[in-house]
Amino acid sequence: MSKFYLTTPIYYVNDKPHIGHAYTTILADVLARYHRDSGDEVFFLTGLDEHGQKVQQAAEERGVDPQDHCDKMAPRFLKLWEKLHISNDDFIRTTEKRHAKVVQGILQTVYDNGDVYENEYEGLYSVSEERFITDKEAESGEFRDIKKLKEKNYFFKMSKYQDALIDHIHANPKFIQPDHRKNEVLGFLKQPLGDLCISRPKSRLNWGIDLPFDKDYITYVWFDALINYVTATGFSVNDAGYEKWWPCEVHLIGKDILTTHTVYWPTMLMSAGIPLPKSIFAHGWWLSGESKMSKSLGNVVNPLDLIEEYGVDPVRYYLMREMVLGQDASFTLESFVKRYNSDLANDLGNLVGRVTTLIERHFGGTIPASGQLEDREQELRDMGEALSTVIPDHILSMRLSEAVEETMQYVRAINRYMERTEPWKLVKNNLERAGTVLYNATESLRQALVLLRPIMPVRTEIVLKMIGAEFDKVREPLEEGLPLGEFEIPFPKIEMPEADKKEHQTEEMNMSDEKIAIEDFAKVDLRTAFVIAAEKVEGADKLLKLQLQVGEEERQIVAGIAEHYSPDEMVGRTIAIVANLKPAVIRGVESNGMLLAASGDDSVVVVTLDDPEIGSGIRIS
Ligand code: ME8
Ligand code: MG
Repeated sequence: MSKFYLTTPIYYVNDKPHIGHAYTTILADVLARYHRDSGDEVFFLTGLDEHGQKVQQAAEERGVDPQDHCDKMAPRFLKLWEKLHISNDDFIRTTEKRHAKVVQGILQTVYDNGDVYENEYEGLYSVSEERFITDKEAESGEFRDIKKLKEKNYFFKMSKYQDALIDHIHANPKFIQPDHRKNEVLGFLKQPLGDLCISRPKSRLNWGIDLPFDKDYITYVWFDALINYVTATGFSVNDAGYEKWWPCEVHLIGKDILTTHTVYWPTMLMSAGIPLPKSIFAHGWWLSGESKMSKSLGNVVNPLDLIEEYGVDPVRYYLMREMVLGQDASFTLESFVKRYNSDLANDLGNLVGRVTTLIERHFGGTIPASGQLEDREQELRDMGEALSTVIPDHILSMRLSEAVEETMQYVRAINRYMERTEPWKLVKNNLERAGTVLYNATESLRQALVLLRPIMPVRTEIVLKMIGAEFDKVREPLEEGLPLGEFEIPFPKIEMPEADKKEHQTEEMNMSDEKIAIEDFAKVDLRTAFVIAAEKVEGADKLLKLQLQVGEEERQIVAGIAEHYSPDEMVGRTIAIVANLKPAVIRGVESNGMLLAASGDDSVVVVTLDDPEIGSGIRIS
């Protein structure tokens, strides 16, 4: 048994939680449950980031005291986590006493080590990001609410630890994951690293933790927030008690907060003499259509609405199945309904219905005996056996969507086994053989359910009960004679909402018109995209898999150009893509869009733009 400490970001309480927050928290919960299931001692931390300008502003807008504002918001997050069956072990709020003590202790240590100095600073400040930004960043358009500020502040000598950080990243290949994020950080660290402004004068902002060495200042919100991860371990300066949990196995974050976690945080820890976390894993963004879901864009999906409508476990399933960890994913109600109906209502739901109905009718509602095994049963058992090593491997390598998909392939294999052996016919003339088939199908189903349990804790428990698995014995093979539980339909089919259906019909009708109106063309979202990486699709001679930077988003497409372009020839090009095609899975690889290419009899030429700086939209003019 080993210990496993994992964290989510602590979320800002300036607004109610949205699907992005729910996603990281569910992901952490799934990992925590897998680790508990495999016998690890788990500490799963989540919480709230309650200081700083954003929160102070939100409180001002509501005309309440910031602490009151936080106290009103915190239960909303807690209630959502409860509804989503989040099994966190601690919930930290940065306004708690335990936290202020630790932040001040660490600040004092860093100060005593000579790593803090005073300086007057003039520069551009992004209110939305709560930090000083460079001119280049200001021009990038990614920062809002920029103003010029000049003030005396305290600075942390982050630059002093630049080389040590680079060495650490090289020596610990798993420190920053996935690899492309590690490369991004190493790229960033090729430039000289600046020092970090860690204070805010109270004259400008007073919602934060006092600097221990100057009471006219509060602590910069990130220096405060990141420390939550050690606070929760019971850390105190001069006390080794926190080493039961620290260092943390993994900080789960979204890619929006990569720099703070992989540059600020480790250098802070180095200065304070605290070991670094073992790894930081940054996942991509859930997009709403093409753009990032964010509070400020107002396009967020409210997770509460979704779970009220469709249930908690289906939402958890969709989020885990649909996002390839490390890449962005697009959230649409349509893909949710499709995924639910095909995987849960059909593949899993039908299997459950079939085995339980047959056992109920022909075996008096108790698990039948398994007689002589034939090749088909052996195949099914071998597949189940293989899964028990493949799935943990996927999970430990953070390939959750693949773990889910492999498990569902197993469910589909059980369905095929049923179709080939036809137990509904066997019951008429060979009851013993029917019993063997039903035993093996149900036992395989049990194995699949156990693998899906961390993702859908409630519904899998219900189904496990339905197939006779006793609560404390779900991990042991089913035994002859176990009584089935009460039947209910675990995953009722969902009708596609009306509005979406209509949209579909009009799209299809337009396809047959010969001439199109300009509004129709405008529906095609053509964009320029920069090819970050390319590789061949295994087992497909014609296909290349491309990783693209499209505006501020990353996505993957599959293109049939491998006979004409090598992966190397594609990397570094700026190409043109249709960005709003429905996602497709080609040879098992997900494709979110297609590229434009001119084709002759034997030649294919990819449309390539020679000015890579060009804006990302392509228009007609
Ligand atoms: O950044 N897709 O808090 P925050 C996927 N308080 N994940 C998303 C998402 C999206 N569209 N939107 C948000 C902060 N997230 C700081 C963190 S940690 C010491 C301090 C998730 O409320 C994702 O995990 O803005 C992202 O990193 C986090 O919410 C940001 O939440
Ligand atoms: Mg944010």
